[in-house]
Amino acid sequence: MDQNAKKRNVAQAAVNYIEQDTIIGVGTGSTVNYFIEALEPIKHQLAGAVSSSDASTKKLEALGIEVLDLNHVDSVSVYVDGADEVTEHKHMIKGGGAALTREKIVAAVAKKFVCIVDDSKRVPVLGRFPLPVEVIPMARSYVARELVKLGGDPEYRQGVVTDNGNVILDVHNLTISDPVALEKAINNITGVVTNGIFAMRGADTVLVATDDGVDSY
Ligand code: A5P
Repeated sequence: MDQNAKKRNVAQAAVNYIEQDTIIGVGTGSTVNYFIEALEPIKHQLAGAVSSSDASTKKLEALGIEVLDLNHVDSVSVYVDGADEVTEHKHMIKGGGAALTREKIVAAVAKKFVCIVDDSKRVPVLGRFPLPVEVIPMARSYVARELVKLGGDPEYRQGVVTDNGNVILDVHNLTISDPVALEKAINNITGVVTNGIFAMRGADTVLVATDDGVDSY
């Protein structure tokens, strides 16, 4: 089965986690784009959505789903998002699409985080995928030097400006054996807005599309 078919299957499976008349959180990326499409038949059962990126907002609104300001929302029942890597401990690397900060905010608010991936994203240890770090532009070189001290090889993602007006450093060659500790350590570097390790708030449920169907854990 090709990767797009797997993404479509896992996105469809995530619809079962939506509770009627609640506000849902919507992530960003190619897998989530299939999830947004899968919302069409149930869109009238939603109380609205909170979006993690301008790109997802456009797609939700095109479908007629109301996108709400997180500051005007009491609770988000479930957050559905993809990942660049995910472990058996439900820790993830995210941010390949540069939306990591808003993704982390919506994930923090949501009661339940459902991660949707195809089986190419499952890894024993995080770090093969370069770790995205969103940085205030004037701090870029300083943060890069600090990331080198943590053992990484940061690379400036040329030409990319986040929805928040910041830049991204992609950190290569990290073996992330203690994701919670590294997430905290990178958060502590002055000038870092967010890093793409989602371990302090990991997923609650991971849905993985394989050739044989959709597994969950
Ligand atoms: C967006 O910034 C990312 O966190 C995405 O969730 C992640 O890159 C997965 O994207 P795909 O579903 O396109 O692989």
